[in-house]
Amino acid sequence: MKGKDLLSVADLGGEDIRLLISDAVDLKAQGWLSMLSGKTLAIMFEKPSLRTRVSFEVAMRQLGGEAIYLSPAEVGLGQREAVSDVARVLSRYVDAVAARTFSHQDLESLAQHSSVPVINALSDWEHPCQALADLLTIYEKKGDLSGLTLAFVGDGNNVARSLMLAASLTGMNFRMAVPAAHAVEDKVLNLAKSQASSSGGQISVTEDPRQAVSGADIVYTDVWASMGQESEAEARRQAFAGYQVNNELLSLAKEDAIFMHDLPAHRGEEVTDEVIDGSRSVVFDQAENRLHMQKALLAGILGGLEIPLAGYG
Ligand code: CP
Ligand code: NVA
Repeated sequence: MKGKDLLSVADLGGEDIRLLISDAVDLKAQGWLSMLSGKTLAIMFEKPSLRTRVSFEVAMRQLGGEAIYLSPAEVGLGQREAVSDVARVLSRYVDAVAARTFSHQDLESLAQHSSVPVINALSDWEHPCQALADLLTIYEKKGDLSGLTLAFVGDGNNVARSLMLAASLTGMNFRMAVPAAHAVEDKVLNLAKSQASSSGGQISVTEDPRQAVSGADIVYTDVWASMGQESEAEARRQAFAGYQVNNELLSLAKEDAIFMHDLPAHRGEEVTDEVIDGSRSVVFDQAENRLHMQKALLAGILGGLEIPLAGYG
């Protein structure tokens, strides 16, 4: 993994994910270390962030390294300066770049022109750091991944794509409940199905949230309008009206099912207060685990840990 980009979960294998989870569990237990002493990470964001920005900064500090945050106004990716020039300049100063972009193509271009590793800190296409941290949370709560059923209720967005791909690599069953017009693209679905057939999981898509949630171990949702889709918010509220995770829907899941949300949540839209604040909700453990998984990723990519990534890069 050392020196490699992480742009998509599709770049990883099931064994890579298991190793990252195991490293994250170890790093969580160890606290502060010095393995990234002398290393600097640039955190370059075109969109707002609470969890991703803070967890990357704290992760670098806890591993002995440093982080520099570049705000949307400072970056001006492709506007103030060509993406390729930003990549070449940053590569002269820092050891890795965590970037949050609107366009996934900009992220790919950044990686292509950088001589240092680039990590996807969320693009319109994927959110791999979130999915990896989510599997860490599921592993901690359930003791395993393989054979568990995750019901994702809502938009076929960046979070859904990454989570579907990650679940399919680890033997999980992934059920997506989504209006047809907002479904995950066939190319992602087909890749997930093919990976699931090797790992022993199953991937299914339905328009019926009740069908997806019935008997599930994990119920997951995300906002209906992602960052950059604000003008579609009202139309999306209508399209997803039957897809709210409330107590009635959650009651169809297993008795010991957990509720997950990557946050920020739009309370009263995709999830009710009673669910997100309820006893089954693990959303704040989930947010904390962004830190521990980011430490495992940074340690692997910047060379503190040697995690072999089969077929990676
Ligand atoms: N879940 C997540 O990525 O949150 P932020 O947008 O606050 O980083
Ligand atoms: N789908 C959401 C995730 C935020 C972490 C967005 O892209 O805004």
